Amino acid sequence: MKSVVITGSARGFGFAMAKDFRRLGCNVVLSDIGAEALAEAKGELEKIESAGKVATVVCDVTKSGDLEKLWTEAEKAFGGVDIWINNAGVNQPDLPVCMLTEQDIDFLLNVDLKGAINGSRIAFAHMTKQGYGQIYNVEGYGSNDAMKTGLTIYGTAKRAITYFTEALAKESESHYEDKILVGRLTPGIMITNFLTSANGGKTKVELTDKVKKVYNILGDYPETISAYVVPRMLKNKRNNSKIAWLTTGRAMGKFFRALFKKNNYFD
Ligand SMILES: NC(=O)c1ccc[n+]([C@@H]2O[C@H](COP(=O)([O-])OP(=O)(O)OC[C@H]3O[C@@H](n4cnc5c(N)ncnc54)[C@H](O)[C@@H]3O)[C@@H](O)[C@H]2O)c1
Repeated sequence: MKSVVITGSARGFGFAMAKDFRRLGCNVVLSDIGAEALAEAKGELEKIESAGKVATVVCDVTKSGDLEKLWTEAEKAFGGVDIWINNAGVNQPDLPVCMLTEQDIDFLLNVDLKGAINGSRIAFAHMTKQGYGQIYNVEGYGSNDAMKTGLTIYGTAKRAITYFTEALAKESESHYEDKILVGRLTPGIMITNFLTSANGGKTKVELTDKVKKVYNILGDYPETISAYVVPRMLKNKRNNSKIAWLTTGRAMGKFFRALFKKNNYFD
């Protein structure tokens, strides 16, 4: 039975993946910053029938000590970790860089970039000792070089995540005989709290009608994307993999279908 750790999994994409891993019989460690949200998520998860078990660990990914504890608790509960997903993420206020504060920037980089780097570092070190494991980082806007005012810092972090993950996969290949599989998840646009809040919920992001129109065409609920990526992670045997939902082909199909059927996620 596989054991899976997902950071930032009390809601959104992380929680959707947790539900699918559970449906597919895995042990799941939910982790997030708030104990209450985690307890609620655990209750929901346990409603799904599964041979697997659920554990929760409060973990703020900006703290290396919390990430170490996350590994230790997961290992204690399930004897090892097969899949570790650095999913926790925050959005930035919809403003040009010159209007952000240094705190806004530090906050985002600490969660989205440094959190995933440290999560990968710690999981990788432990996985080399246990002799197996997969690590996934979540890409996002900017990973493919897209640019937009209001997403410059987020895009900088996600572009760096792409580089970091590929470089870490290279390290696994050159120094660890590809024993640790390192890969990327490319979810596209997901209809979650993330789209309308920044700074960890402290700042609201107002979506313009133009942006809503694009999200209505290209967006999906996280459950749809999770149902695609989770079985692929479980089957994956390749280092440096990229499991991508919103490919160019799928995006084109969505624009075509939007001529006949319109989504309305925001009313
Ligand atoms: N929503 C999208 O359109 C979209 C698109 C591409 C990529 N992503 C990425 O997907 C991932 C999940 O996003 P989501 O849409 O589910 O967002 P979400 O806001 O619904 O969920 C994010 C989760 O991360 C947690 N979190 C925030 N700061 C944390 C910290 N310091 N430590 C631990 N947990 C923390 C939150 O509490 C929350 O549960 C993020 O990495 C995001 O960048 C999102």
